[in-house]
Amino acid sequence: MIQKELKISYGEYGSIDELEPGDRELARAAADAMKNAYAPYSHFHVGAAVRMSNSEIVQGSNQENAAFPSGLCAERTAMFWASARYPDENILSLAVAGGVEGKLADEPATPCGACRQVMAQYQAKAGKPLSIIMIGAKKIWKFDKVDDILPFIFDSI
Ligand code: THU
Repeated sequence: MIQKELKISYGEYGSIDELEPGDRELARAAADAMKNAYAPYSHFHVGAAVRMSNSEIVQGSNQENAAFPSGLCAERTAMFWASARYPDENILSLAVAGGVEGKLADEPATPCGACRQVMAQYQAKAGKPLSIIMIGAKKIWKFDKVDDILPFIFDSI
């Protein structure tokens, strides 16, 4: 047996202002989308924004439902809306922000596993890395590709 290790590299920023201009715009769009969350059950407001290959930004927010599993996360709302709106374009980057009652949390918003799997699918469709920006009030993380937040991606059918 050989013991193996994974190494993941990501950038940490002190504020949105430290990001390069395109990412800054995307991060602001994600934080802005928090206000459109429909979260009457969790009161946790999440905003997401994706950058498309045609440079457009598409926003999404979490949408909850009395039948809990019928609701959807902000990231998937944004990605599905973006792909439905621009089926011939690709998603190049995604930013996400969240917090209780719409107040941005100090720690970066980290996407759930189901959203990571959907990101993996659109990254494979694009054939190029899809970067992820996780926004918090105190720090921001940037990952260059989905593989860094979802090791051993399932894409084998
Ligand atoms: N949520 C997201 O929108 N994105 C995530 O990555 C994690 C969770 C939403 C789902 C639900 O509306 C609320 O946050 C609480 O889980």
